[in-house]
Amino acid sequence: MLGEEVTPVRSVRQPSDEAPMTDVFPEGFVWGVAASAFQIEGAHDVDGRGQSIWDTFAAQARAIADGSNADVACDHYNRYAEDVGIIKSLGIRAYRFSVAWPRILPAGTGAVNPAGLDFYDRLVDTLLAAGVEPWPTLYHWDLPQTLEDGGGWTVRSTVDAFVDYADVLSRRLGDRVRNWVTHNEPWCVSVLGYAEGEHAPGKKSWPHALVAAHHLLLSHGRVVPVLRSNAAGARVGITINTSPCEPASPSQADRDAARRFDGELNRWFLDPLYFGRYPQDVIDAHERAGRLPGGMYFVRPGDLETISAPTDFLGVNYYTRAVVRSDEIPEEENAPRTIPIPGPAKLTDMGWEVYPQGLEKCLLRIHEDYRPNSLVVTENGAAYSTGPGPDGAVNDTQRCDYLRHHVKACLHALQAGVPLSGYFVWSLLDNFEWAHGYSKRFGLVWVDFATQERVVKASGHLYSRIVNNDGTLEEKAA
Ligand code: FCB
Repeated sequence: MLGEEVTPVRSVRQPSDEAPMTDVFPEGFVWGVAASAFQIEGAHDVDGRGQSIWDTFAAQARAIADGSNADVACDHYNRYAEDVGIIKSLGIRAYRFSVAWPRILPAGTGAVNPAGLDFYDRLVDTLLAAGVEPWPTLYHWDLPQTLEDGGGWTVRSTVDAFVDYADVLSRRLGDRVRNWVTHNEPWCVSVLGYAEGEHAPGKKSWPHALVAAHHLLLSHGRVVPVLRSNAAGARVGITINTSPCEPASPSQADRDAARRFDGELNRWFLDPLYFGRYPQDVIDAHERAGRLPGGMYFVRPGDLETISAPTDFLGVNYYTRAVVRSDEIPEEENAPRTIPIPGPAKLTDMGWEVYPQGLEKCLLRIHEDYRPNSLVVTENGAAYSTGPGPDGAVNDTQRCDYLRHHVKACLHALQAGVPLSGYFVWSLLDNFEWAHGYSKRFGLVWVDFATQERVVKASGHLYSRIVNNDGTLEEKAA
């Protein structure tokens, strides 16, 4: 598919019988761009911001691949007006950003920092004045360090602190902000942060990760009514990271491993959100692997009802598929591994396979299995290092191809009947890519981190043409 010439959107494949016909993106489809506070804001110690777990993590030797930190990042805290100006100039109509909890409540709970609230107030006003819809995410990984010192997401009191934070923030912004995302990627927060130690807070305990995952979901459910009551007409959702999990071979063992990994990555979050229960086969597998000593003791009566309270949309972040094999797994670990795809697959700088069919598969599967009333692709994008050429232009043709194919996958999903209502590119700017530091560039806009100069890449111009043409794809790169 990727090597093929891109066909215009109006002549894509026939939708299935029961799917409504659509050959263009529906009116009102939200075209946006995404970023997160810690990755772009910088200004880590100004205006009363408290420390976050990512400040602490980045300061540890060897935690970040290039030895960097996000003290300055894209200096967006000071340059937000310029950045909103870029979004506006491209005609992009929605901006998904996240709010840094440590700016609002520097110690996580208790005293509110008015300067922190003021910043997001200014950002929202600037966006609205530019005709760009604000889509804040409450939690994109930068937990106040004080809360982590008390146990972080492994303790239930952090759920209460999150509810207070959401209340403070939505009281301030609720008169102007309609779309709210509670959490970004609870799988990454819990598994990468608490089980695998690749992300802050850098812990390596599966039992803690599974408790953290439950508390993240519970905190989502608890803030849904808070946001609804503080923001008139609020539309509330949660964002998960999803991948189709495919067996590396047709062997029964690989198919079992793929199902197991799908359980850990997708069903562990979607089943409680939509069915009000955890998947029993995954509970059993975690128990066999010794990851649930004491069982599911942390799930209290009423929790699952809270978690499965109806929302307005599901946010879906998609980058690539997972190919899973069962061999090389120590018996006692009983855990599937993902392996890179052999053969000629195109990889991005993250080593992630370019696999746009996976986006369509995920959207269809979630629609068929869980029936959210609306889905929004809240992140999709690719890391390529392409920088300015001799003429200063950034001709990132690989990212252009990636975007075209993934936008087309969205259209296929719509044609098959998925109620997809928006698409956000990750990311507006090249930024601090977590444990990779500045070595992976996802931006539609190049950032020179020495001078903070911004240059809109060819992909930014391409995306601008797409969004200003209601999703119509062009044949050739600019
Ligand atoms: C997602 C994160 C986002 C960014 C992209 C590349 O998992 O939500 O912050 O790092 O990956």
